[in-house]
Amino acid sequence: MHRREFLVFSSVTSLLFVTGCGGNSSSRNSTNPAVKTLALPIPKLLKPTMKNGIQHYDLDIKEAKHTFFEGKLTDTFAINDSSYLGPTLLLQQGDRVSINYKNNLKETITMHGHGMHVPPTMDGTAHQAIAPNQAWSPQYTVNQKACTNWYHPHTMEKTAEQVYQGLAGLIIVEDDESKALDLPKRYGVDDIPLVLQDRYFANGQIDYSPSMREIMHGYTGDTFIANGAIEPTLDVEAKQIRFRILNGSNSSVYELGFSDGRKFKQIATDNGFLEAPVSISRLRLSPAERAEIVIDLSGDLNQRLEFKDYRHSKTFMTINVSKSATQVTTLANKLTTLDPINVASAVRTRSFVFSGRRGSFQINGKSMDMKRIDERVPLGQTEIWEVKNNMGMDHNFHIHATHFRLIERDGSTSNVAENEKGYKDVVFVPANGTVKLLIKMIDYTNATVPYMYHCHFLEHEDRGMMGQFVVV
Ligand code: C2O
Ligand code: CU
Ligand code: CU
Repeated sequence: MHRREFLVFSSVTSLLFVTGCGGNSSSRNSTNPAVKTLALPIPKLLKPTMKNGIQHYDLDIKEAKHTFFEGKLTDTFAINDSSYLGPTLLLQQGDRVSINYKNNLKETITMHGHGMHVPPTMDGTAHQAIAPNQAWSPQYTVNQKACTNWYHPHTMEKTAEQVYQGLAGLIIVEDDESKALDLPKRYGVDDIPLVLQDRYFANGQIDYSPSMREIMHGYTGDTFIANGAIEPTLDVEAKQIRFRILNGSNSSVYELGFSDGRKFKQIATDNGFLEAPVSISRLRLSPAERAEIVIDLSGDLNQRLEFKDYRHSKTFMTINVSKSATQVTTLANKLTTLDPINVASAVRTRSFVFSGRRGSFQINGKSMDMKRIDERVPLGQTEIWEVKNNMGMDHNFHIHATHFRLIERDGSTSNVAENEKGYKDVVFVPANGTVKLLIKMIDYTNATVPYMYHCHFLEHEDRGMMGQFVVV
């Protein structure tokens, strides 16, 4: 974990240093109240209202006050009756939906459905800004397979701060295939949504104040939170438990696992099921990546284990196996059939090269410009997109509107891990790394309204590491 470059040593911090326990603490949280002990909050499932065959989901975005600490209310941004993050939308493939975002904040926002396969006018990028007191209602037919997606602001130069204040929520898509599989499906009981983030707090308030160094490396935090609670406890039954995990952080890469080192099965990547469960003991997730995992706790009644990020040696939550199973699920060996990867079908290669200096970032030498279309991508053609990170720092790469397959890391197909072989919309591109993606635009041509591709480290995205493409 990097520390703040221009750290001002308060007397408290210096004291910690001389007493030898300052190594991982930051001056930012030395003044915070005691953490409030909570059960893992489960975001509510938002009920739609039905009008003319369309499901309407109403999302009111507003200022709120949230309890992270004892005896202290923290100012946040939130949605509906939650005080941090927003409710979960549960959609079915084929549903006709209208998502009604009302902006009750004093600043302009946008709301993007990350991972949703929708027309560019419904995508919620900077081109669909929502001014204060205004509403925006994208309407579309859910046109994709089962997966775990999310919504978050995508406001020009303000995404990072607005997400850090608490604006994000999950969108779960189900389809006939996901409903037919014998998976844990009881939301909040054995199918647990998990939004993982880290924050800095000062005097119990969210502290978004990146230094130049933190803009370059991405703003992180020393306090790790799950669904808006600091190190909460989750009580579960002794059975298979499914977690739908979102790395909802601004710029942190997590290496997730359980404190007893046990193996678990990854069943889905960003945009849907893997062909077969992949057994792992560590799950790397960069910002905005999702994974669904199944962990078998059937032999662990009355045991406790911690769910941790081993990259930063932090605990996200404690799992308490406190109840006997009231239902049994059996994980299948085959989850879905993915299209074969046919690299020879690619008709062209586009290349995207990252660079950055002094707090600004570029892709192919250019910082984001809303008036410039960087790529015109023909409908229905398979392409290879090669993403090169020549910098000595980590990034990732996200493409709107579609999903892709990762075909090479650092020039070799054998560097692609088993659990990265599903459909994805975000790929980690570590320092000095290169990835090759196989991609095809299959819907929604529009010659003027663009989609975006960008690094999803939000400080980088906000400072130019983003480009625009249209599907033609
Ligand atoms: Cu998660 Cu361009 O977005
Ligand atoms: Cu997106
Ligand atoms: Cu980046």
